[in-house]
Amino acid sequence: MRLFIMSVVAVLLALSCPFSMSEVLKTFGKCSEFFSEGQPPVIPGILNPNSDHARYKKICQKYSFTSVGSGYMFATLYDTESRIPVFSAYKYTGRGNFDRPHIPWKIEPQLDPHVGDMTAPYKNQAINEDYFLNDYGMNRGHLFPSCHAANVFTAESTFTLTNIVPQYSAFNAGGWNRMEIESQESMNTNCTDNNGKVLAHVLTGAIPGKNKLNGRVNIPSYMWMAFCCYNSKRLWVSQAYWALNKKERDDEAINKTSLQKLQQFLSQNWVENVQLFNKCK
Ligand SMILES: *[C@@H]1O[C@H](CO)[C@@H](O)[C@H](O)[C@H]1NC(C)=O
Ligand SMILES: *[C@@H]1O[C@H](CO)[C@@H](O)[C@H](O)[C@H]1NC(C)=O
Repeated sequence: MRLFIMSVVAVLLALSCPFSMSEVLKTFGKCSEFFSEGQPPVIPGILNPNSDHARYKKICQKYSFTSVGSGYMFATLYDTESRIPVFSAYKYTGRGNFDRPHIPWKIEPQLDPHVGDMTAPYKNQAINEDYFLNDYGMNRGHLFPSCHAANVFTAESTFTLTNIVPQYSAFNAGGWNRMEIESQESMNTNCTDNNGKVLAHVLTGAIPGKNKLNGRVNIPSYMWMAFCCYNSKRLWVSQAYWALNKKERDDEAINKTSLQKLQQFLSQNWVENVQLFNKCK
């Protein structure tokens, strides 16, 4: 009977969170296109570009978009202890014309290869249930937001829990949403090439905080975002933002700033000597 119940639980878990097809890899080599100049950021102690890390896992986020096609959509560095991503990296090429997808959230089976061990399922990642019934007023906040996707398949691919952090709903719908719109306008204006095409490389991340959701998932203190592009005026352009993940709704402007200032902020509040892009300074 006990075994039966356990397998029912396993099936239910699997049903509520379909598996992603993404790949957890030693390097970001297969998905280097999502980094400016193919170069992942420098984050001392957290990102070893050429080797595996016990805690911080590199994910090339793969998505099957038709019955025959699949491809890499973005890249994520995932913190298996805090159970939130460090960052997601993606290309912004202009927003596509589609409605926000409504699809089930996915989990990453390769992060928990021993999930058959039902005493400690999903030790290395957050699952959908972690986000249920919380009294914090938290919801699932995207790092790569579906509204920055070029097409509906890319937008769908962002609905994976390895791209998600606990975000206060007022902040998610308020200041952070304004940041997503404002950065989009800024990239549309400043990141156009000679043929009128938009291309920017974006990094969005979260700084771990002191509290946990469901006793398991770190609630970030701050979220940040930066883009870097080379435009038709033959200039490298960047812009950066950060904001406090806070409960109260307010209309305070988010911190729109230079890349350099954001890197200073990250050094003071997180890890020293972070270098997000190699061409944009
Ligand atoms: C980008 O474009 C906006 C207008 O949308 C402008 O106000 C802003 O100064 C530009 N940013 C950079 C970094 O050039
Ligand atoms: C901007 O950053 C400061 C810390 O440097 C923080 O106190 C303030 O709340 C931030 N603003 C927003 C809207 O998050």
